[in-house]
Amino acid sequence: MTTTKYPGAAEYVPSTDDLATLAAAADACHGCDLYRDATQTVFGEGAPHASTVLIGEQPGNEEDLDGHPFVGPAGRLLDRALDDIGVDRKTLYLTNAVKHFRFEQRGKRRIHQQPRRTEIVACAPWLTRELDLIAPELVICLGAIATQSVLGPKAKVTELRGRTVELENFRVGATVHPSSVLRATDRTQAYAEFVDDLTHLFERA
Ligand code: URA
Ligand code: SF4
Repeated sequence: MTTTKYPGAAEYVPSTDDLATLAAAADACHGCDLYRDATQTVFGEGAPHASTVLIGEQPGNEEDLDGHPFVGPAGRLLDRALDDIGVDRKTLYLTNAVKHFRFEQRGKRRIHQQPRRTEIVACAPWLTRELDLIAPELVICLGAIATQSVLGPKAKVTELRGRTVELENFRVGATVHPSSVLRATDRTQAYAEFVDDLTHLFERA
């Protein structure tokens, strides 16, 4: 296993209070090696002063090609869940813990790989700045990687599920990643639990 120490994104993060400027600067980030094989940076998108921010793991195959977060299968499942609970996606800001797609090439297919701890840490300055500028009241972490990027490497979705934790600037809640619902043996059950978590979290938004 490689333990590459990356320089990290900090030196690429401009001192701006404009989210669009921040996003544009991320296009040129070489804070870790993930930019090398990925197509492009996929930055967060949504309402610049959203009261709720949703954080995923990293762009997937479709997001990498398209340049926008949550446009692939996981994004479509998330859209359906938001629809079901009557939350308009346009009122939210959606982003990822890591801004480049990490994958392994197998023939013509690009297989998603979880980002390493070093990459999560390297990319964190972008997320920190996004959260600073948006100043949400509630941050919802989708899955383990998002949860760990906000609450540290020991944080567990299972322990956080169903409640929120008060941080200095916002409250944090967590649920599973929508792609885990797609992979679940009992998808109906997993989807119902996902929607249930989101319902409770948004009730506190
Ligand atoms: N999964 C994520 O975590 N984020 C995306 O943007 C797409 C899929
Ligand atoms: Fe920079 Fe994050 Fe991309 Fe690494 S994953 S190159 S830190 S934007």
